[in-house]
Amino acid sequence: MCALKICKLGEPVLRQKCKAVKEITPEVRLLISDMLRTLYAVPGVGLAANQVGVPVRVCVIDVGLDGKRQPMALINPVLVKGEGKMEAEEGCLSLPGMWAPVKRFKKVQVNAINEMGIPVTIVGEDLLARALQHEIDHLNGKMFIDYLTAPQKKAIAKEIKDRKKKGEW
Ligand code: NI
Repeated sequence: MCALKICKLGEPVLRQKCKAVKEITPEVRLLISDMLRTLYAVPGVGLAANQVGVPVRVCVIDVGLDGKRQPMALINPVLVKGEGKMEAEEGCLSLPGMWAPVKRFKKVQVNAINEMGIPVTIVGEDLLARALQHEIDHLNGKMFIDYLTAPQKKAIAKEIKDRKKKGEW
């Protein structure tokens, strides 16, 4: 098995509002394991299903920064609570190599179901809170660049244009 192809900004599926998962079929479980494999291959902190071309409400996150894997798969995640504010550099696997400061809640509560179909509540702070908000945004067709100022967006658009010319996008 190999890692899935990650869609880059400009591919319409990234702007789709993803559909809720009604039943956790073997296909959904396979999607989750392929997404985790893809996340570790990059490596990255989080990945939403529409980033690999599948517009369903599934995301995977692993903020294990100490070398230990802490995989988390969330199906139909919903942000139910957000507290405090923090600003930090944020990136996205669909915008490789691009970073910009984004304001997010410092602490969030997310309700979802896991790959076993069990309802879970995740309370995350700092990087985990940021990843949860970032991935849920993806499932709603939103990307971190949407939070940026017009000049910041312009700079990113120019960078993409330049990379396209070089065949790197
Ligand atoms: Ni992203």
